[in-house]
Amino acid sequence: MTVVNRFNEDKYDKIMELAKRRGFFWPSYEIYGGVAGFYDLGPLGVRMKDKIINLWRNYFVVRQQPLVVEIETPVIGPSRVYEASGHLEHFTDPIVECTKCGRKFRADHLIEDVLHVNAERLSPEEMTKLIREHDIRCPACGGILSEVKKFNLLFQTTIGPYAQNRGFLRPEAAQGMFVNFKKVYEVMRQRLPLGIAQIGRVARNEISPRQGIIRLREFTIAEIEFFFDPEDPWHEGLLDEMLARVEHRKLRILRAEAKKRDETKPEEFGVREAIEEKVIITPWLAYWMAVARDFIIELGVDYSDMYFEEKLPEERAHYAAQTFDQLVRVSRLGWLEVSGHAYRTDYDLSRHMKYSGKDLTVFRQFKEPRRIRKKIVLVNPAWVGRTFKSKAKEILGAIKSLDANEVERMLKEKGVIEVSGVTIPAEHVKIVEKEEKISGRRFLPHVAEPSFGIERLIFVVLDKAYREKEGRVVLSIPRRIAPIDVAVFPLVRDERLVKIAKDVWRRLIEAGYYAIYDDDGSIGRRYARIDEIGVPLAITVDHATLEENTVTIRDRDTWRQVRVHLNKIEEAVRMFLQGAEPDLLTSI
Ligand code: GLY
Repeated sequence: MTVVNRFNEDKYDKIMELAKRRGFFWPSYEIYGGVAGFYDLGPLGVRMKDKIINLWRNYFVVRQQPLVVEIETPVIGPSRVYEASGHLEHFTDPIVECTKCGRKFRADHLIEDVLHVNAERLSPEEMTKLIREHDIRCPACGGILSEVKKFNLLFQTTIGPYAQNRGFLRPEAAQGMFVNFKKVYEVMRQRLPLGIAQIGRVARNEISPRQGIIRLREFTIAEIEFFFDPEDPWHEGLLDEMLARVEHRKLRILRAEAKKRDETKPEEFGVREAIEEKVIITPWLAYWMAVARDFIIELGVDYSDMYFEEKLPEERAHYAAQTFDQLVRVSRLGWLEVSGHAYRTDYDLSRHMKYSGKDLTVFRQFKEPRRIRKKIVLVNPAWVGRTFKSKAKEILGAIKSLDANEVERMLKEKGVIEVSGVTIPAEHVKIVEKEEKISGRRFLPHVAEPSFGIERLIFVVLDKAYREKEGRVVLSIPRRIAPIDVAVFPLVRDERLVKIAKDVWRRLIEAGYYAIYDDDGSIGRRYARIDEIGVPLAITVDHATLEENTVTIRDRDTWRQVRVHLNKIEEAVRMFLQGAEPDLLTSI
């Protein structure tokens, strides 16, 4: 028997209702009936999103100095960029149309809903076969469904008034980093490894988004393209230093090979262990997964409510050689993807190099020059001159670019070499070995990418913060990301208390805090109102304030109250928001 967890279902609905009523978020364009896949953020949603972004920036950029820098690039890009990136060809979802009413559905989701199997990995042909075999019909009118086709998720526009100048809204920020790699590399004085971060809006024309703020057609992404040397990913000990910061962390990982055996339980690995055992094939990806783990925990998620799931080859995006999704357990929806960690190799840079014709390689100097033995092809130049006259120069040039091993093979097989349309007999060709000094290598860097959808994180924070205490709602949002920092109340509407409370409120605003003032209704109701939106602390001015110049500071989560001197309020608020327990505030 399946046990339905009513509390969790209710909790999801309650969060959605609260988010709308108090101003975190709501569906866009509601006065026109709404458009699926678009959500507005209200005043509290904007504040919290800003704080989540700043926390992300803190984890992924500020703490990673000098390895990571942030840039900003346009949302609209010319079609050439998305031809090069592979999105025009591969960024598709399977779609099926009702032949009777014309409605369109995402085919894999429809199959999953009806047959309760994972259809994500199936080809359009396999999906069509399943639809036919099981006589799956249009869920709206019962009509027969068409063949499954691919639908490209890029939003298209034109750049300027010319229809042939096709442009696309970016589906990821990443391409901005790839096309700018060489420029940023130069700006950063040719340092490798180099992380380029970007936070910005992206758009994906989802076929039928159904999960509210979880699956949006336009959202904010925060991602890093981290460029490193594939032949020396450890960068002469640098990665060791970085790993030392996170290596005592454990990562829960559900490996692709375990998924193939239908296992669902993640295994636990140390960060280094995951690298050494080649669970994560490139070490920088492991580093960023460890950072992502810490970041998500700081949003209020328990370690046991999170794991990384390795994608199967057929589940991965076209550019990735290995991908892990970071999943968080939330109410109703179950395991929700909050970030993706992809090893993109040199796929993107090599494609942009090919499509733009620009050299995107880097040169990395060896610590010490290296001596290598190299085979070279020598042909008697006097003989070439005599024999081929005006063509001799061209032939000598072409010989220089021949691969010596290839020449050896030709001589062995045919007794001659063929070059520039002429044949040179073996007696005029010599292959010699020469020692050469080389000072470095030219190559395309490889890329590890952590990528987060920010709006999903807003939902995750609310889901993890939501509590009911004595019949009231308390949002225990981590103090650093609570949308409003502090509330100030006079205990009652006494003119003297109101004056001091407003003065304290203004002082806190001047000090840079988001602060609210409220003198409406009983103090109990005012506490309830701020608990419901997760304000971490409240300051109450009462009659004792008039006598001893102290105020009450109340902690949202424990409802514990302590008294602090009027002169020490800014310091108390600062300490509290940084994590100090209420009792510590009495000692300042
Ligand atoms: N850049 C990651 C993604 O497109 O999901």
